[in-house]
Amino acid sequence: MTIVKEKILAPLPGNYNLENYDEIRNTFTWEDASGELFWKAGKVNAAYATVDRHVDEGYGDKIALHYANGDERRSLTFREVKEKTDHYARVLKKHGVKKGDRVFVFLPKTPECYIAILSVIKIGAIAGPLFEAFMEEAVKDRINDCNGTLLITDRELGERVPREEIPSLETVLYADEIEAEEVEVVPGEELTEWVGPEDGMLIHYTSGSTGKPKGVLHAHRAVSHHYVSGKWVLDVKDDDVYWCTSHPGWVTGSVYGLFAPWLNRATVIIQGGRFKAEDWYRLIEEFGVTIWYSAPTAFRMLLSKGDALKQFDLSSLRHILSVGEPLNPEVIHWAWNELGVRIHDTWWMTETGGHLIVNLPAEPIKPGSMGRPFPGITVGILDENGQELPRGEVGQLAIKTPWAGLMKEIWGNKDRFDAYFKYEGWYLSGDLAYQDEDDYVFFQSRDDDMINSSGERIGPFEVESKLIEHPAVGEAGVIGKPDPVRGEIVKAFITLRPGFQESDELLEDIRVFVKKGLAAHAAPREIEVMEELPKTVISGKILRRELKALEAKRAEEAAIVGE
Ligand code: WT7
Repeated sequence: MTIVKEKILAPLPGNYNLENYDEIRNTFTWEDASGELFWKAGKVNAAYATVDRHVDEGYGDKIALHYANGDERRSLTFREVKEKTDHYARVLKKHGVKKGDRVFVFLPKTPECYIAILSVIKIGAIAGPLFEAFMEEAVKDRINDCNGTLLITDRELGERVPREEIPSLETVLYADEIEAEEVEVVPGEELTEWVGPEDGMLIHYTSGSTGKPKGVLHAHRAVSHHYVSGKWVLDVKDDDVYWCTSHPGWVTGSVYGLFAPWLNRATVIIQGGRFKAEDWYRLIEEFGVTIWYSAPTAFRMLLSKGDALKQFDLSSLRHILSVGEPLNPEVIHWAWNELGVRIHDTWWMTETGGHLIVNLPAEPIKPGSMGRPFPGITVGILDENGQELPRGEVGQLAIKTPWAGLMKEIWGNKDRFDAYFKYEGWYLSGDLAYQDEDDYVFFQSRDDDMINSSGERIGPFEVESKLIEHPAVGEAGVIGKPDPVRGEIVKAFITLRPGFQESDELLEDIRVFVKKGLAAHAAPREIEVMEELPKTVISGKILRRELKALEAKRAEEAAIVGE
C-alpha cells in the first residue's frame, strides 16, 4: 500500500448542507439553531422533535431504521417507531412514572433500546441509558447515584441488576413484558409532556480521574445542538443511510446514534453483535451506508485487517466521521487511499452534549488536527491563570460558555460541576491542546489521570476501588499505557496481601474479578505486582504520575534496544 502524505486534504466535490463555514462563523447564534420547528407554544419535547414530528409532517412511511444482528433483519418506519414509543410511554405512565423521574434503560443495541429511551423522554422523565457491557457494580452505582425509580431491561441483562442493593428502584420491566402489556388508549390523549428547554432529558454517567462516575444531566434544549450538528457535521440529507457504531449507553450512541440523525430524518442502521471487520463491511454494502460514524480504534482494526475490504463494494460511503480519541494521520490516509473518502475527526465530550471542534465536509482537513470550532463556538487555550495563550502554544483546552448542548448539572454534586467553570466565562475540558493560525486545534493529551481506551473513558479510581476489593490485592494504582491499536490500555500496578503468591492464575482471577464487577473495558489488560507503590510522602496518595513515567521510560528503553 502506497501512502501519499499530503499536508492538507481538500474537500471532495459535493453538495453539502454547510458550504461555507467562514461565512457563518461570526453570524450564527444558538438562538438561530433552536429554530421554530421544535417548539409548541413555547414548550419543547426532544422525543417529539426527534421522531413524532416527522409523522406529523408527512414522513411517517419513511424507513427510520434497519436493524441487523447476525442473520436477523428488521426495519421500522417513523410511524412504527412513534407508535411503539407511544406504547412504551403508556406502560411507563401506568407504572407511575412522572415528569423528572429517572428511568434507566439497560438493553443491548436493538430498536427497543432506542424506543425505550424516547418513551421515557416523551413523558417528561429523564432517560439514563446504560452500556450493555456494564456489570453489577457499574449498574448499581449509576442507578443509586440519582435514585432511579424504574429500569427497562431484558431477561439476560436483568440478571446483572442487584435489586436489593438499589433501594430507590421500585420497578423493573422487561422489554418483552412491555410489548405484551395491555394499556388503554384514550382517544385524543396527549402523551407528550411539553416541557421547558431547561427541563432534564438525558443522564449519562462518565468517569473522572477521581471518585465514582458523575451523572451528566442534559436538558431538552440540547436537541437544537444535536439538530444543527447533525445537519452540518454529519451532513445528513433525506436520502442518507446513516450508521453510528456506538451503543446509546455512551453519549456518542445517544446523541449521534439516535437524536442527531433522526432529528434530520435519516434512515439509521442499528447493528447488534460484536466487532468483526467482514461483518461491518458487509453491512455497509448491504444497506448502502452513505454516512458512517465510528472511532479510531475501529478504523485501526479495519486497517490492520488489510485486504478484508477488497471483497466488498463500499462505494456508497460518501462521508466518514470519527470521535473519542486521537485520530492518527495514517488512518486518514488509509481511508483516502482505500475508500476514496476522508475521515472527519470530531471533538466533544459527554459534558458538552454535542460537537464543539469539527472537520466540516466542505472544509480542508489537516491530518493530525481535530478540526476547527463549530459555528458559534470559541476555543481558548488557557494558561494556569486562565489567561489565553498565543496561537501555537500548548495549554488547557477551554470553550467559551454557553452553547445549546452544554450539560445542565452534575447530578447531586455542585462542586464537581463548578470545577469545569473555574475560569470565568469558560468551560474547562481537561484536555491539553494548541490552536494554529488557521483555527485548527491539535489534541496533545489529557491534563488528568483519565484513561481513554478504544475511545471509552475510564476513571482509574473506579478500577482501583474494585481491585482492592479482591482478597489478594493490598493496594492498586491504575494508569493508561500507550497501545498502538486501542490508544491506551488499562494497566494496574498492585501489591499483594501477605500470604498471596504471584501467579498467572491469580492475576487472571483478579482481572476477571474487575471484569465481572465493573465492565470488560475497565478490566486491566496488564497487571504488574510491585513490592510497594510510589506514594506522596504527606498524604500517602498513590502517585499515578510516577507509574506513568515508569512505563514511558520502559517504552523509551525498548525503542532504543529496538524491540
Ligand atoms: C474525552 C471525552 C463524546 C465523544 C466521545 C468521548 C477525548 C474525544 C476526541 C478527539 C482526541 C478526543 C478527550 C475528551 N476525545 N474526542 N477527536 N481526539 N481526543 O466522550 O467519554 O466524554 O470523553 O475523549 O480526551 O476529553 P467522553
